[in-house]
Amino acid sequence: MLLLPRISAAACLLLSLLQCCIAHSEVPSLLDISIHELGELLNAGRVSSRELVDLYLKRIDEVNDVLHAVIETNPDALQIAAQLDEERASGHSRGPLHGIPILVKDNYATTDQTSTGAGSVCLARSRPRHEATVVTRLRRAGAVILGKANLNEFSSARGETPNGWSPRGGQTTGAYVRNQTACGSSSGSGVAASLGLAAAALGTETGGSITCPAFVNNVVGIKPTVGLTSRFGIVPITLRQDTAGPLAQNVADAAVILEAIAGWDPNDNYTSAQPWQVPPEYTSFLNASALHGKRIGAIWIEENLGEAWASLEFNKRFMKSAFDEAIADLRAAGAEVVEISLEMHGIPIENLTTIIHDSSAVYVVPDLKEGLEAYIRDLEPSDNGVRNVTDLVDCIRNDPAEDASEFGLSGIEESAHTNSTSGSVESWEAYQRASTFSRSFIVEALEKHQLDGIVTLMHLAIGLASSSGLPIVTVPMGVLGEDAGTMPDDQRPWLLKSCPGLPLGLSFTADRWSEQDLIGYAYAYEQVSKKRNKLKPYIKPKTDLDSILYNVGDLEL
Ligand SMILES: *[C@@H]1O[C@H](CO)[C@@H](O)[C@H](O)[C@H]1NC(C)=O
Ligand SMILES: *[C@@H]1O[C@H](CO)[C@@H](O)[C@H](O)[C@H]1NC(C)=O
Ligand SMILES: *[C@@H]1O[C@H](CO)[C@@H](O)[C@H](O)[C@H]1NC(C)=O
Ligand SMILES: *[C@@H]1O[C@H](CO)[C@@H](O)[C@H](O)[C@H]1NC(C)=O
Ligand SMILES: *[C@@H]1O[C@H](CO)[C@@H](O)[C@H](O)[C@H]1NC(C)=O
Ligand SMILES: *[C@@H]1O[C@H](CO)[C@@H](O)[C@H](O)[C@H]1NC(C)=O
Repeated sequence: MLLLPRISAAACLLLSLLQCCIAHSEVPSLLDISIHELGELLNAGRVSSRELVDLYLKRIDEVNDVLHAVIETNPDALQIAAQLDEERASGHSRGPLHGIPILVKDNYATTDQTSTGAGSVCLARSRPRHEATVVTRLRRAGAVILGKANLNEFSSARGETPNGWSPRGGQTTGAYVRNQTACGSSSGSGVAASLGLAAAALGTETGGSITCPAFVNNVVGIKPTVGLTSRFGIVPITLRQDTAGPLAQNVADAAVILEAIAGWDPNDNYTSAQPWQVPPEYTSFLNASALHGKRIGAIWIEENLGEAWASLEFNKRFMKSAFDEAIADLRAAGAEVVEISLEMHGIPIENLTTIIHDSSAVYVVPDLKEGLEAYIRDLEPSDNGVRNVTDLVDCIRNDPAEDASEFGLSGIEESAHTNSTSGSVESWEAYQRASTFSRSFIVEALEKHQLDGIVTLMHLAIGLASSSGLPIVTVPMGVLGEDAGTMPDDQRPWLLKSCPGLPLGLSFTADRWSEQDLIGYAYAYEQVSKKRNKLKPYIKPKTDLDSILYNVGDLEL
């Protein structure tokens, strides 16, 4: 039974003056409220979806000048939310995402009023003919697509551009240390999820683009097995590795979203590799006892994993204490943790990333060209739009808004000029080499040590799970301490790649299609470690639920 009626903001001000701070403190913040709790408020009629959209839009306005997390918001979002409110009022609820505002990375094609550009002003000049399948799935589940989150342009495929930067959105920065990196390429999605600029956000990953932003932005990221979520309508890098997944404040929220977007899609044949008719109900694996009696392998790599991870290597020894604490928390959650090292079969571990990287470059270059060609071909024809990859490269090189003189475009240029093809023997051989090689480390470790899962830092997880298409779930693990060093971004010296106060994450991985187990382990770890709320952002929006609610009464949130 609900004792306290919903009241207007003016009455709230009056009442909160009268009732002082006690009632006020009961109002949850959009900084940590879960999607389930938002659903309770919506179901009880304490807030409407329209009001939520209004709050999130204000919150975006309040911080976006500094953080550049969001590129565009949907001018129809309020109206869409109002329709969903009416639907709820008429007795129909679509489920846990009904009326919940979600941002999507700018590489998800939408057919609403927002443009889609993967950060590029050139690409954004044409409208997609079709919407990304996972966006449609979210809408069907009742989510309000609030707008487009910033990213590394073309999800880093353009070349040497700063992490988190795009011509359409500017430079994303993280919310915990002034001028900190938000990592990439799903930078805006990570920041937006962390600060509650939407209830959660979708990102994509080809080689670390969900996992790294989750790591530095104090949020949960799920990088699904390739083929679990459709990539149709997503600006591609390589279909052999691209995958779509959520960034959210907690594991439960991420699981709700994964459940809504996972599944077979006739427009993405990789989804027919799913070993079930219907994917598992991920939310039913949110069990605080999920680690009881499980054997988890913890891999700490002393050796330097190379240039690509310079920022992580730079402060790695300062992460050891957080990692050791994570092992203790896993044990407290009931897991048997075995500290293992990888069987390298004579390969120096320092060479691991280079070997995988060199192989994947062989197929990524033609895959990018062919993927972009197909994506562009499917756009609505437009007079000022691009018609093909050659056009796109010319536009990026010549349009001042693309800043080609400052950052170049070597990645996309190399692809445009390649004579290699995705279907060539070289491409397939390189792909088999990279994917078999990287997956073998995970599979062998799981078998040899009879493990149920593996935890490690993001660089090793990404190195092993990218070309092999394996899942990674990343959960907040703590923070880089005061003694850590400060390292600037290569392209943008004021942007801090690593610094004291930077959030840290723990990555869970295992073999393909193990999301349900990883979600369970991550949830159980999260319940024991409770790291997210220990970190306070240096900047946060001031508009919050307390402008609508003065008290949530007897709602059990
Ligand atoms: C953050 O970056 C801005 C430039 O965008 C610079 O003016 C400022 O000094 C930087 N702050 C710190 C703490 O480095
Ligand atoms: C998926 O595979 C089927 C059967 O080979 C084929 O007919 C279809 O064109 C493929 N779809 C896509 C989107 O590639
Ligand atoms: C939660 O996990 C524990 C330990 O694995 C199991 O015994 C229990 O049945 C699970 N609970 C639910 C609701 O699945
Ligand atoms: C490891 O890397 C070094 C330096 O790049 C190289 O000289 C060596 O041949 C590599 N070893 C293997 C087994 O790939
Ligand atoms: C790309 O499109 C332009 C028209 O925008 C056309 O002139 C050009 O020939 C096309 N190039 C290729 C390689 O198809
Ligand atoms: C592709 O082939 C053409 C014609 O043989 C050649 O001129 C060009 O240099 C080749 N491009 C690359 C990147 O190898």
